[in-house]
Amino acid sequence: VGTSSQTQTVIEEVGNIRETGTIPSRIHNDNEIHELELERVFSDTWVFVGHESEIPEPGDYAKRYIGDSPFIFVRDDTGEVRVLFDSCQHRGTTVVRAEQGNTSYFRCPYHNWTYKNTGELVGVPHKEQFFKELDTCEHALDSAPQVDSYEGLVFASLSATAPSLDEYLGDFKWYLDLHLKFAEGGMEVVGEPIRWEIDTNWKIGADNFTGDSYHTLATHKSAMDLDIFPPELSAVGAERTPVDVTECSGHSCMLAYLENQEFAGGYPEDIFTETHLSESELRLAKRLVSSVGTVFPNFSFLQMNLNADPENREVTAFLNIRKWQPLGPKKTQVWNWILVPRDSSEEFKQRAYDTGISTFSVAGNFEVDDFAVWDGIAEAAGSTFGKKIGRRSNFQMGVGEMGDATNISDEWPGPGAVYDTNFEDGTMQTFYQSWYRSMTGRPIDSATEDVNE
Ligand code: FES
Ligand code: FE
Repeated sequence: VGTSSQTQTVIEEVGNIRETGTIPSRIHNDNEIHELELERVFSDTWVFVGHESEIPEPGDYAKRYIGDSPFIFVRDDTGEVRVLFDSCQHRGTTVVRAEQGNTSYFRCPYHNWTYKNTGELVGVPHKEQFFKELDTCEHALDSAPQVDSYEGLVFASLSATAPSLDEYLGDFKWYLDLHLKFAEGGMEVVGEPIRWEIDTNWKIGADNFTGDSYHTLATHKSAMDLDIFPPELSAVGAERTPVDVTECSGHSCMLAYLENQEFAGGYPEDIFTETHLSESELRLAKRLVSSVGTVFPNFSFLQMNLNADPENREVTAFLNIRKWQPLGPKKTQVWNWILVPRDSSEEFKQRAYDTGISTFSVAGNFEVDDFAVWDGIAEAAGSTFGKKIGRRSNFQMGVGEMGDATNISDEWPGPGAVYDTNFEDGTMQTFYQSWYRSMTGRPIDSATEDVNE
């Protein structure tokens, strides 16, 4: 994709977010930017595909996307998890038409070429008559160039030369661990991912989930007024200790915890184990009240303690993971999963699922608040007048001259540049810095050296 000089200027301006505290709104609804993102961001980074627990048995598969490219997320007959490009080696149509299922063989609907769930081509109708010379060994389904997993989360990269997933997640694994490794048996997905479409750009959800605590006070006021979020734990609750984590291997998150109280985070108390976490991580995991974060580009997580059931006001924790799938410059498909500790009771799993679905899912009473305002961002950003006046989006809260967020990285046990508040925009600045690096091809380290200054 060629880049117009205007688009190049817009991208460069995003690179100055730390100095200016603003970015051109145009990146939230622009065809050329969208095409470039598919070619650069979604082809060079590690993109979330699914959780291993979604495909526990050999032959289990599910249809997934990386950028706009269709893939089959499958556990083959040997037990290996694969991410295969869903395009037949014959005329190229997609082989899989079901959302998910279990099969030993994928048969293409066009001319019935047939592949094992390893991707190997094993059947070509009338091969002896029509395709004598065809070497089936050379016509296996293509694999994503790199596939790897972290604590059950499977990611793939369309770049064969991208750094490993381990390196890509880097220090941010410390924060993922708080949500994925506190229970002995790890986490598992409940049910199927729920999907819906929103009329906005994929980056809006992704940046919000780095930690836009500010909007909670306004957008979600009606949900807060219902006390779904226990008042003492809410964003302005006096008891919480707030923390924003920025510049953590290019990823960012916010969290809040109860310093003086082991809250067990709305999870069953006996679920916590010392096996996989350091002492400081375990201490924090037991006190977590809420946290959200984004692994660049489009994987986000949210862990909350809510009491959504009017009949049973028990505070319940759940882990919500999601993917902001770009369908166009102002169209995003949200993929939403609820995870629970594998070793928790069926009663708890059901309660956690119900709590998650009724709050942070397509009809959730927090979720619906966000759609309306997120739609409006793309609408104005892509409008003729918005582009004419160079509409900018503001990310200055609490940062530098604009606020008094204090860097507490020295006292904090975890990695990253860490601030003592949930009301600062450094988490979002980190997201857009990663976007800039990905769009320009500059290495991730070159802009992170001044992390702790
Ligand atoms: Fe798949 Fe022809 S396109 S068999
Ligand atoms: Fe929200």
